Formats: sequence, structure tokens, C-alpha cells
Amino acid sequence: MSNPFPLSKEVIYKFREELGIKTLAHASIRQIVYLVNKLQEKYGVQFIRTEMGVPGLPAPSIGVEAEIEALKSGVASIYPPIEGIPALKQELSRFAKLFLNIEISPDVCIPTVGAMQASMLLFLVANRRDAVKDTTLFIDPGFPVQKRQLGVLGMKYESFDIYNFRGDKLREKLESYLKKGNISTFLYSNPNNPAWICFTENELRIIGELANKYDVIVLEDLAYFGMDFREDFGCPGEPPYQPTVANYTNNYALIFSSSKVFSYAGQRTGAMLISDELFNMQFPNLSGWFVSDVFGRAVLQEAMYTASAGTAHSSQVGFAAMLKAANDGTYDFIGNVREYGKRAASMKRLFLENGFKIVYDHDEEKELADGFYFTICYPGMTGEELLGELLRFGISAITLDTTGSSRTEGLRICVSQTSSDRFADMEERLKLFRTVHGE
Ligand SMILES: Cc1ncc(COP(=O)(O)O)c(C=O)c1O
Repeated sequence: MSNPFPLSKEVIYKFREELGIKTLAHASIRQIVYLVNKLQEKYGVQFIRTEMGVPGLPAPSIGVEAEIEALKSGVASIYPPIEGIPALKQELSRFAKLFLNIEISPDVCIPTVGAMQASMLLFLVANRRDAVKDTTLFIDPGFPVQKRQLGVLGMKYESFDIYNFRGDKLREKLESYLKKGNISTFLYSNPNNPAWICFTENELRIIGELANKYDVIVLEDLAYFGMDFREDFGCPGEPPYQPTVANYTNNYALIFSSSKVFSYAGQRTGAMLISDELFNMQFPNLSGWFVSDVFGRAVLQEAMYTASAGTAHSSQVGFAAMLKAANDGTYDFIGNVREYGKRAASMKRLFLENGFKIVYDHDEEKELADGFYFTICYPGMTGEELLGELLRFGISAITLDTTGSSRTEGLRICVSQTSSDRFADMEERLKLFRTVHGE
């Protein structure tokens, strides 16, 4: 079929109306997915799909085979323990020692139904431990669904974009919220979805110190564990280690996901690692909601029990097998996902050569890593306008408006679904875009 680009604005608008997309600026990822599916069908073309953060690599056979074996041995009929199977708890604790260099006992390493469930359960308990402290502060930009979780729970949040508050400026900005006394939890992802910024040690120290000073629980989302490819965080027991706030405070819960690092999204398996100190801490206010006022017991015996009574048995076995191989040094889990960094370097180059700019481009003085996501803008266009136009040239994305970013000119690009065989198409489309739109 001949090149249909740029696609008709009217057709795109008609499909948007059908899908109830009033503005592209606030369209959800799933709405963009449906819109692009319809356009692909209508025009018979494959888009360069960068809207959804799905793993673009196959799941490791170590996990798959361990799960098959577990299923054959009969685990499907057996409820797993609510607190998780011992083998996985043990490997999570080892993983924390070997790749974060922190001590955390197996008891407080709790498998969850994805990182998604971990944040939900932690909100449920952490935001109720103090009658006055009832609000989560998001250090944005961030993963929009976590704000929806709080909406669904009827809980409060505040947020700010870290863009203008990197380094030492972060302290004053955080304190401007903390002084009000209502902040119970911080949440951020590191590496960050959508901007792929990585907090520096200085920034993590500031967050940890303020968590201690103002008694805030830090929910550190490590869904992209170790994927800052500027360093090699993948050698067990050897520095450098994945940076973490756990080096600066005991008031933390770490959120793990097998989805991206282990390409295991379909099995919905993650974990929360609650510091031993926090796990055993008593908060009288919890007794208004839970039978136990001990943090960890409220999380396990009530939040987890009532939500899903644990995590699927076989996928825990699969996750445990992959972690064990990583811990034993027989599976290079970071090497396996480095492909995303290579894709990002090439895709960024194609955008930059065609007049685009990178929005979030530095971690303090260091240039940003190439990884799972990056952010772009085009001079003179808002993010909404840019997305509308890129769709006409067969490239999909999401706007930063949906992520709590103040950079309304920006779009998030996810590299996972674009392998190198699509780069020629992408280049051709971006060149055409540039010809039509000029500098
Ligand atoms: C920052 C962040 N946290 C959590 C998740 C959810 O992870 P899971 O698939 O383990 O629920 C994602 C998924 O994209 C994410 O980007």
C-alpha cells in the first residue's frame, strides 16, 4: 500500500469521538491504544507504537520452566501462604543484599500481584497510621495509575514536578509541603516513569533525611530496578548498587515489579519490601481500621488478605527461580534488558535529527541515561498538538500532562515495542513530519 501519511485529521477526529476522547492531552494510555488500533486497521499500516510501557522482550525461560514444573507438581490447587512462599521471600531478601546492599529479612519481603498491588496495599495502611497525616506526596512526573489508586480509595494526594527542583533545591521544595504536617507518604519511581530521570545520591539523602525529620514513609517504586544503564548494577554483591533511599532512612517500603526487569508482566508478580523497623512498628491509629495496629500485620493479615489473599502460587515459583539465578550470578538480568537502552539511543537520535528536543535531559550535571522511556517536544507545539500531529505520521505516544509533569509541551516515548527493524520507517515518517512542519 502507498504511504498514507499524513493521515486525515477528520478520520482521526471521528475515531476520537467514537472512543470518547475529548482531549488528547488527557487521554489515557488505553484510549490511545484503541485509537491507534483503529487507525492501523483503517489504513493498513503499522504505527511506531510508543504509547504503552509493555515489555518488548520474551519472558526468561528460567521463570517459565520453573512455573510449568510447579504447575505439574500440583501447586494450582494449593493456596499459597498470604505472606508469600518461603523460597521467594528468601530470594527477595538475598536480592536486596546483593543488588541494593541493604539488610532486609525474608519475613518483610512480601510477594504481591504486581507492583500495582504493592502500592495499593501500602497506601491502605500507611495513609491511615496517623489521623493528621493522611496525604501522599508524589514527586512527579509519575505513573498516573497510582494517583487513580488513591482516588479509588478516597485518599488525598499532593504533587509537584521535580523538573525545577533537582539537587539541593529539592529540600526546600519538600519542606514547603512537609511543614503543613499532613504528608504521610512520599511516592516516586526511580528510574522514573515517564521521564527516565534517576535520583542522585544527594537527592535520595535529602528525601531520607526529611522522611526521618517529618516521620514520612517513603514508598520507593523500583519497577525499573537497575535499568539506569550508565552504570552496571547487575553484578551480585559488587558495587555499584542500585541507589535507594533505604541507605538514608528506615521509614521505607520498596516496591518491586517483575514486569519490566524480568519481562514477566503477564504473570502480575511483584513485591513490597518493608523495612524491618517499619514492619514491626505500632501505630495506635491503625486500630480504627485494622484488628492489629502493627504496620506489617495490618498489611499482611488484613490489607493483603482482603484484597487477594496472596499472590498466584506458580508465578511466585517463577519469580523466585529468576531471582535465584540473578542472585547466584548465573543469569545476567540487567544485560538482558540493555536492549532498551540501545533502542532509546537510536530513537532519540532520530527525533533530535528531525528538530525535536529532549524535555527531561539531565540528572543534576549528568546527561540522562538511555532506557525504557524518554521525553520529547517540538518547538512551537504543545504536547497535545504534537501528539495529534505525530499520530497523522504513524507514531503514537502519550502526553506528559497525564503524568503530573509541568512540561505541557512534552510527550513520553516508550521504546519497548520498537525494534531496530522499524527504525527506517520511523526515520522516514519523522523526515516527512519535519518537511510538513518546518523547524
Ligand atoms: C513506575 C511504575 N510502577 C509500577 C508499575 C506497575 O508494575 P506491575 O506490572 O508490576 O504492576 C509500572 C508499570 O508500568 C510502572 O511504570
